[in-house]
Amino acid sequence: MEKSKIKEFTAKAFDDISGAMASGLVYIGVRTGLFRAMSGCGPMTLLEVVERSGLTSRYVEEWLNGMVCSGYLCYDPQRKTFELPDEHAFMLASDQTDHFIGGLYYAIPMMLQMAPKIAEVFFNGGGIPFTDYGDEGIEAIDIMNRGMYEHRFADYWLKSLPVVYDQLTNGANVLDFGCGTGRVILMLSSKFPRSRFVGLDTDNASITKAKKHAESIEHIKNVEFLCEDVQQFEPSQKFDLITVCDCVHDLADPINTLRRLRRLLHSSGTMFIVEPKVADRLEDNINSIGALYYGMSVFHCMTQSLADGGLGLGTCMGSARLKELSEDAGFGHFTKLEIKSQTTSFYSIRH
Ligand SMILES: C[S@@+](CC[C@H](N)C(=O)[O-])C[C@H]1O[C@@H](n2cnc3c(N)ncnc32)[C@H](O)[C@@H]1O
Repeated sequence: MEKSKIKEFTAKAFDDISGAMASGLVYIGVRTGLFRAMSGCGPMTLLEVVERSGLTSRYVEEWLNGMVCSGYLCYDPQRKTFELPDEHAFMLASDQTDHFIGGLYYAIPMMLQMAPKIAEVFFNGGGIPFTDYGDEGIEAIDIMNRGMYEHRFADYWLKSLPVVYDQLTNGANVLDFGCGTGRVILMLSSKFPRSRFVGLDTDNASITKAKKHAESIEHIKNVEFLCEDVQQFEPSQKFDLITVCDCVHDLADPINTLRRLRRLLHSSGTMFIVEPKVADRLEDNINSIGALYYGMSVFHCMTQSLADGGLGLGTCMGSARLKELSEDAGFGHFTKLEIKSQTTSFYSIRH
């Protein structure tokens, strides 16, 4: 054993352990609005943060101290002031934008709360059903993805498929499969009022939220949300576009599901798939995104698929596996799209 390596590893271990604590504190900051209360305010005393946030003083004080120690806030010991730098506010106090990173922190407690149960399934097999993550689970996915979908989906991602974009503009029939809380459909429906949209998901609570989100938008007519198994879903018309976002890797029975979706897709239609960005080989995923996604896989994605007796593809399924699945489902054309993103990969598949 090398002493220097023990020292190096100890430092890494403490970084990770304190990182977990920092993530919990950031969750609190996002959830309570503390970051928003400090955003753009410059240096603030404890009293000022308490007044602006309306939260309990002693909790705010300890949170501020923790956030200073983990490098999220700056501290002036002379004046005893705390400051959220603008660059941090850009990422943490920017809900519903495409640069908001708070959603990822938001997902951490909802996943880690399952750690004791997940340790059990390591012994006995099985999994934790999607519904067991409850409202927090649905909310976290919503907060994590919403900004990207509302700001990048139509005018950036779909622009890489100009024919599809034109079809949507002129009036297309669109299905968002595994639509969750409906953000993709609702954003597309307001951008492309001539098109018709269906959001389908098997999770009743997600569909209820999607319908609520739709009700909050005025003059929305071209949208329908359905809680239904795709194998039983019989639409009156085939779809020109099927979107499947952050969902294929979660599927219990991906081949039969993709087969069914192929049948619902018009012969000249396109399926647009959004998946976590990972390399195909483990050795190429040894970085912070790989560590994040393998964690998410164990704490949510793989485990909820295994709970359904599914394949448990996991968050890090990768492009090669997706191509294989699409071929097994009968699709003839598979394209990985050249859309820049640090965390997300994009695919177009066709008959
Ligand atoms: C990670 S969430 C993504 C939700 C949404 N597409 C988004 O990107 O925010 C995966 C979704 O797939 C849904 N799902 C999983 N298996 C499904 C199936 N067989 N049929 C329909 N929806 C399914 C889940 O209920 C969940 O809402």
